[in-house]
Amino acid sequence: MGKRRKKIFHPLIPLFPYSLVPFIFMPVLVAVGLQWGDEGKGRIVHSIARHAHAVARYQGGNNAGHTLVLGPKDILALHLVPSGIVYPKVRCYIGNGVVVDLKSLMDEVRLLERRGIRVRERLGISPLCHVILPYHLVFEKCLGEGLRLGTTQRGIGPAYSDKIARVGLRISDYLNPKSFKEKAGKNLRGKLSPFMSAPAIRELEQAVMKDYPSIANFIRPLVRNVSLELFEMNKKDRRIILESAQGTFLDVDFGTYPYVTSSNPIAGFAPCGVGLGPKTIGMVLGVAKLFATRVGEGPFPTEITGSLAHQIRESGLEYGATTGRPRRIGHLDLPMIKKACRINGVDRLALTKMDTLAGLPRLQICVGYDLKGEFLTEPPDDSSAYEELKPIYKELPGINGDLGSMTKYKDLPSAAKRLLKEVVEFAGVEPAVLSLGRSPKNQIILDQKFEKQWM
Ligand code: IMO
Ligand code: MG
Repeated sequence: MGKRRKKIFHPLIPLFPYSLVPFIFMPVLVAVGLQWGDEGKGRIVHSIARHAHAVARYQGGNNAGHTLVLGPKDILALHLVPSGIVYPKVRCYIGNGVVVDLKSLMDEVRLLERRGIRVRERLGISPLCHVILPYHLVFEKCLGEGLRLGTTQRGIGPAYSDKIARVGLRISDYLNPKSFKEKAGKNLRGKLSPFMSAPAIRELEQAVMKDYPSIANFIRPLVRNVSLELFEMNKKDRRIILESAQGTFLDVDFGTYPYVTSSNPIAGFAPCGVGLGPKTIGMVLGVAKLFATRVGEGPFPTEITGSLAHQIRESGLEYGATTGRPRRIGHLDLPMIKKACRINGVDRLALTKMDTLAGLPRLQICVGYDLKGEFLTEPPDDSSAYEELKPIYKELPGINGDLGSMTKYKDLPSAAKRLLKEVVEFAGVEPAVLSLGRSPKNQIILDQKFEKQWM
């Protein structure tokens, strides 16, 4: 940005209207999860989206569960609709990288509208999104026993598999009744015939076809050229936020494969998942929780069980927003966060749920690992190495006090400042936001420049 700004103030430039200046003033922000999902991306996007022009999802599907707290008893769990929807002037988009269960999107939109949130006028979906159809869910269930990944059972993996195998249906195919009937019927029969009887397949096919007209009519007016609309906004210097689902260690390339989701939550994929150029991204906000959780199977080096895990789970309400499953709990793992900062190119950190740790007598934070006598400062890429990986901990004093009511850094107890310092020094990235509760009101801004530009 610095270099570009210098060019912008060329003596000739003031002669032209700003819209003609071929430089971008306002970078796009990517909010990305740095752990295994559930970092609090929803609450952070909620807190920075008030003055945004657009918020877009770029990958994943309704496996995501982004919980927003709008009032003391007013809680909203979003699965496909971006978190900006709670602000009446913010445009929301579902980019081409997302796989969309159209029926579940329709239900989510209706639910939001029943709550008085106007959605249809402000939501745009790319026709390039692949659709999740009921046969993807049935197929995932059939595979489930063998794979043992603990997925959300939302058909995510099967829909992305079809996309990559070039047999999937995009929204544009879905909206063409002829191609929908042909392709969906063929896929359904091909996928399910090894698992189901012919009459059961026919019954499912009839159900899919029966639902079709109402879903297609609902979706048709929402279809937009998302890439082009975001490009135009970006050219006009509008604030755009790209909101990830899941997190870095659920990334299909950089996560703990095969215990991952089937998309790329990392920030590098964000422009691709909405159809913007990579140079539009100017701010990567890495969201990390100050302890660790994971849902489903897979390696988790700092996992804890017993009463401490129970206490953290209950105090942090660590239950899946999508499936309701109790989340596995672990100590804060700094090498993972540092690796995630590297892979995502994180510019600023948003740290969440410090309040959940309040009252614990002491804190353990992982600062490295022992792998068969070797000291590692970064987690391995190969999941099988995790079996013998032993975390090395540093002990910190426990944090006491009513953190939820604090709004200034100077009011934080010294143990809280100490934890913050350890994270920032280890990650090598400055923090912008410290979240101390479920609502955007319970947070401390740690970077005034960030606040000025984004909040
Ligand atoms: P948000 O956006 C936490 C996990 C599942 C499973 C693995 C693969 O709320 O952070 P999938 O259904 O995606 O094929 O399952 O990924 N998973 C999540 N865990 N938060 C999420 O989303 C998740 N989305 C998927 O539990 O282990
Ligand atoms: Mg979740």
